Amino acid sequence: MIRSVVASLLLLTVSIVAVADGRGFLKLPSEARRFFRPAEEENREADGDDSVGTRWAVLIAGSNGYWNYRHQADICHAYQILKAGGLKDENIVVFMYDDIAYNEENPRKGIIINSPHGEDVYHGVPKDYTGDDVTANNLLAVILGDKSAVKGGSGKVVDSGPNDHIFIYYSDHGGPGVLGMPTSPYLYADELNAALKKKHAAGAYKSLVFYLEACESGSIFEGILPKDINIYATTASNAIESSWGTYCPGEYPSPPPEYETCLGDLYSIAWMEDSDIHNLRTESLKQQYNLVKDRTLNGNTAYGSHVMQYGDLELNADSLFMYMGTNPANENFTFVDEKSLKLSAPRRAVNQRDADLLHFWDKFRNAPEGSARKSEAQKQFTEAITHRTHLDNSIALVGKLLFGMEKGPEVLSSVRATGLPLVDDWSCLKSYVRAFETHCGSLSQYGMKHMRSIANICNAGISEERMAEASAQACPTFPSYSWSSLRGGFSA
Ligand SMILES: *[C@@H]1O[C@H](CO)[C@@H](O)[C@H](O)[C@H]1NC(C)=O
Repeated sequence: MIRSVVASLLLLTVSIVAVADGRGFLKLPSEARRFFRPAEEENREADGDDSVGTRWAVLIAGSNGYWNYRHQADICHAYQILKAGGLKDENIVVFMYDDIAYNEENPRKGIIINSPHGEDVYHGVPKDYTGDDVTANNLLAVILGDKSAVKGGSGKVVDSGPNDHIFIYYSDHGGPGVLGMPTSPYLYADELNAALKKKHAAGAYKSLVFYLEACESGSIFEGILPKDINIYATTASNAIESSWGTYCPGEYPSPPPEYETCLGDLYSIAWMEDSDIHNLRTESLKQQYNLVKDRTLNGNTAYGSHVMQYGDLELNADSLFMYMGTNPANENFTFVDEKSLKLSAPRRAVNQRDADLLHFWDKFRNAPEGSARKSEAQKQFTEAITHRTHLDNSIALVGKLLFGMEKGPEVLSSVRATGLPLVDDWSCLKSYVRAFETHCGSLSQYGMKHMRSIANICNAGISEERMAEASAQACPTFPSYSWSSLRGGFSA
């Protein structure tokens, strides 16, 4: 009897919403959705802080290739934390190329680890967007909840409502104003921020937290992310420095000897190894930020970076629980302030941009004398170095052609004042990158570091013709290395 009353009340709510929606499909508001959730979850949330609504997460590994093992390992690890925290697969969208677990170089087939003694983090990870479906377009469509704009993949999107909390975590290579993607084009900061603003304007979240690991990751939000759209972001580095890989061969702590690649990234493992062990109801975003900042600075050695925070800083008083849930097994592990958790010694880490070289070098060193593997590794190493030299020289030459021998290097390396975005005209940056790549080959992962130079050319008011002319002069022939192929770069 009571049940049927509840049922008809529900039907009433549902039909009102369906009518209001006007597009003929059923979309339940968060309030109505609560009725359908298991009682256990209701109880868990009843004593949570401000936890009406659903927790959503988007996890993105923006690279591929075995030498980039660590980015997909990070993403898988994050999934395990959220899953243990009580988020449901239907609310977690995963982007990973998925070429690691069964890669011929992987010593433990079907297994991915994120620390030297770590357990498998690959099991159970939903394969929403893999291979060529890991694209910037799909990522933006997923964030916006726009099913019709998604191409390929599972079609899962963040179909969130005004009471929901969203957590986005991205790990990859980047450069000033840009984030890598395994399938071109790369993702520019203005496009990502525009999508976040649009999501806010649609009233599709209560608050959103963005954790970002990439080189120069501060430049993705600095001077761009508004402070009044309920978004709080932290980044692995400031706008002008590299971020760092960790658990790398030959460094301390090192991976098991059979791994010729880094297993994790410094900022990423700092937040995840913290979230792994605590009752996340007892820890705020700010407490985690301070701890991660301290650990990622790495004793202020050369092997560390400055973790930054952007957006609405008041949100950092929220508990991690609001975004990540919490693992019931950690219920008695209250967060203790960072002082007592200080690491004894700084760790050795590897610049994100050198992790590929390290992999080829380690492969070369370990391969038997005279083997095909040894000569392959040597070729990979040499080509990567040659490509880097070519890019560095070409950009420097473009600068000298445009601004003169002396002023060239100065203009290209100048950094704008704190709080200003990398560039004022993003479409200028995009077309000048295209002009450069047309003549000089793909900037590729490594070349993303030159984005600031190209941005400065825009900021100096150089015309598009002169940029194209200078690029053609600097690169009379198109380079032939595989790294230069435009397929992997910025231009689609
Ligand atoms: C936490 O401590 C309480 C009290 O000692 C105990 O009853 C509970 O089982 C513990 N929880 C876990 C997950 O171990």
